[in-house]
Amino acid sequence: MNRLAGPVARRQDLRMARMRDGDVAAVIAVEHAAYDFPWNERVFKDCLRVGYSCWVAQAAHGSDRDLCGFAVMSIGAGEAHVLNLCVAPQWHRHGIGARLLTHLQVVARNHRVERMLLEVRPSNLAAVALYIGAGFVRIGERKGYYPAADGREDALVLALDLAFAGANETDVSAPSTARLGD
Ligand SMILES: CC(C)(COP(=O)(O)OP(=O)(O)OC[C@H]1O[C@@H](n2cnc3c(N)ncnc32)[C@H](O)[C@@H]1OP(=O)(O)O)[C@@H](O)C(=O)NCCC(=O)NCCS
Repeated sequence: MNRLAGPVARRQDLRMARMRDGDVAAVIAVEHAAYDFPWNERVFKDCLRVGYSCWVAQAAHGSDRDLCGFAVMSIGAGEAHVLNLCVAPQWHRHGIGARLLTHLQVVARNHRVERMLLEVRPSNLAAVALYIGAGFVRIGERKGYYPAADGREDALVLALDLAFAGANETDVSAPSTARLGD
């Protein structure tokens, strides 16, 4: 069952926008706050340069918008690979991770993608719960995939078959900026 629509997901004050070069400093701030082994600026700029599907979640804050999360996905050969999905710690448990994941599914479907893949640390219980709740299933593992404080950590490889997943619509109360060709 797909249960990606949280409380924030239905609010007008969160929107998804394409990540731009000008977002990278704020993205890195979120990345560093969220991960022990963060990506650096070069990695994000490379993702933008090669045309990966890069998105930011923006929360309305008065007349401004706060960048509260982001996601990076590559698409090719009928598959989408979620490379990064991250929410600023102060925004955790507001449905933003679920909204980002739903948005990636919409973008992937618009590209006629049949399957989404991702790696996740088994110790990352929040992320595993997010993905399993969204319908991802374990299809394997990669030994020593991640750096860890005491050496390396294996990755779980999860997949979502989009032909059977339920998220084939956008939330009409919170319009997505995804279009065919994104
Ligand atoms: C994983 C992450 C993206 C979740 O984002 P979030 O916005 O807090 O998640 P949501 O509020 O959308 O939660 C959606 C579901 O995820 C699961 N979940 C999220 N955080 C959880 C936690 N701390 N413990 C258990 N389950 C959790 C729940 O199933 C939740 O559904 P529920 O609220 O109905 O119980 C966020 O914790 C994060 O950015 N972590 C650091 C970066 C990271 O690890 N990214 C994933 C890399 S693979």
